[in-house]
Amino acid sequence: SDTKATNVTAVKHNVTRSKRAQILGVDVKFRGCTIWFTGLSGAGKTTLSFAVEAELCQRGIPCYGLDGDNMRTGLNKNLGFSPEDRAENIRRVGEVAKLFADGGIIALASFISPFRADRDSCRKLHEDAGLKFIECYVGTPLDVCEARDPKGLYKKARAGIIKGFTGVDGVYEAPEKPDITVGTRGESVAENVRQVLAYLEEEGIIP
Ligand code: PPS
Ligand code: MG
Repeated sequence: SDTKATNVTAVKHNVTRSKRAQILGVDVKFRGCTIWFTGLSGAGKTTLSFAVEAELCQRGIPCYGLDGDNMRTGLNKNLGFSPEDRAENIRRVGEVAKLFADGGIIALASFISPFRADRDSCRKLHEDAGLKFIECYVGTPLDVCEARDPKGLYKKARAGIIKGFTGVDGVYEAPEKPDITVGTRGESVAENVRQVLAYLEEEGIIP
């Protein structure tokens, strides 16, 4: 692998997950997990994850939305859109989401994350740490995303101004077995929020 940190060993905390959960309030239950929204540009990942974030906050449940456009202006501003940089983007964000989840917060990650292997690595990272990783496929079809074109990026990609744009001349590998699928039937954002929240209730993550 590309590990450069030699002579380094992870250190165990003195504080447990349940202790952190108590401090966060709501009730004593640990609810930390990651919901991973994947899909094409313009599919509605940000809109849905931020709407879920607002609804969870409304219910008093600690959560935090990590979004591609935001992470790429901060932590990941040194990364572009080559396959290698996208993989590194997802690797870092997966690690960040895992830290939020470990701290008892529901991490809401919304990234195109076009490569199945990168998403699967994020899942493994969580599951190896005993944390749930919920993959939500925002499966809005390309023609719908392109018709929306909220940032005018498809137009630029078609014109050849942006190279390697996902869905145009960049690959997107759809999840094979997502935990949740939304956006494929032209549903409203409110319906999709309800679907995600219903899943969290069924899984016993939220009351
Ligand atoms: S990735 O593939 O997961 O690393 O991408 P992500 O971090 O989610 O960032 C996607 C946002 O970056 C903008 N953008 C591009 N998207 C796709 N392909 C190319 N070449 C590209 N260049 C810039 C775009 O605003 C994406 O945001 P969303 O919300 O997905 O439309
Ligand atoms: Mg977005």
